[in-house]
Amino acid sequence: MYKSLLESLPIPSRIPLMGGPTPLERSRLAWGEDALYWKRDDLTLYGLGGNKLRKLEFLMAEALSQKADLIITSGAPQSNHARLTAVVSAMLKLKPVIVIPGETPTEWGGNLLLDRLAGAEIIACGEEPLDQAVNRISTEKKSQGFHPYTIPLGGSNVLGSLGYFLAFFELLKQAEEQGWAPNTLICSVGSAGTLAGLIAANALLPHPLRVLGVNVIQSSDQLHTQVEKLAAEVLDLLHIPCSLPSFEITANFIGPGYGLPTPESSKVIIECFRTDGILFDPVYTSKGVAAVKHLMQQKSQEFPEKIVFWHTGGGPAIFDQHYYADLLGYT
Ligand SMILES: Cc1ncc(COP(=O)(O)O)c(C=O)c1O
Repeated sequence: MYKSLLESLPIPSRIPLMGGPTPLERSRLAWGEDALYWKRDDLTLYGLGGNKLRKLEFLMAEALSQKADLIITSGAPQSNHARLTAVVSAMLKLKPVIVIPGETPTEWGGNLLLDRLAGAEIIACGEEPLDQAVNRISTEKKSQGFHPYTIPLGGSNVLGSLGYFLAFFELLKQAEEQGWAPNTLICSVGSAGTLAGLIAANALLPHPLRVLGVNVIQSSDQLHTQVEKLAAEVLDLLHIPCSLPSFEITANFIGPGYGLPTPESSKVIIECFRTDGILFDPVYTSKGVAAVKHLMQQKSQEFPEKIVFWHTGGGPAIFDQHYYADLLGYT
């Protein structure tokens, strides 16, 4: 449908990390009259999957073109982005360095274990602001003779967001092949790149979809502006002179804060695992699915009929003992 348009765009080079489209499947859950579909980016090819691989296709291509030999990124200790950056770096024979806030962990469960298996150097920066620590470590690595390439938090810059610009069309094509069209698209939002890419692509539709981002980060009044800015940068980069369609971000499902489960988010993890055999994560997607459940159960007449929730991965975090202890409380 959009094939010739996409082929005409000046899309920067990327390295293939996806192994083809991810599955799009209908949920068995009955939360109302509407049909719910999962777009399964938890099933991407490498490192136990997740949304970051679509961003890393572009970011790693740039790193290689700059002849980098070391990749630095940052994130929370259970960062899925850091895990996937570490494993892809290792696969490309680049040295992965992950900068985390606070003290050196004493437990290495979940993503931290996978970071270690990927051979990442994990540097805890204490109270030092993460950005500042990343700059300092980059300078130190340069003085040791490395050529570092820095990937921002969550891989969310214009290049990374391009991954989700393209993913949007993957979804439309798959739905069309299955004989239906989505009305509403929902995803969880952290560092903003995933939603920004989807919004930029939505701008190309004559009748844009309703797009809802579920904010999982406590202090992000500016998240809407951040998404808009990044989406506009994506359109600029591709020389597409479109204005952005409106979109919504809800902060109603964060609960006590980033990385802290809510009773609703923990219960949907178990419900979805038992009904659809799909694992959502405690930090991002379970809060997004809690929002989907709430919206569907409201049974608003205005609410559209075909809803897609974009599963952005993150499952390994439940093997962190804080998260599995919480989940066991609901079994
Ligand atoms: C599993 C998962 N879902 C969603 C997100 C949010 O994506 P973004 O940071 O692009 O907003 C992240 C980000 O780290 C994630 O790890």
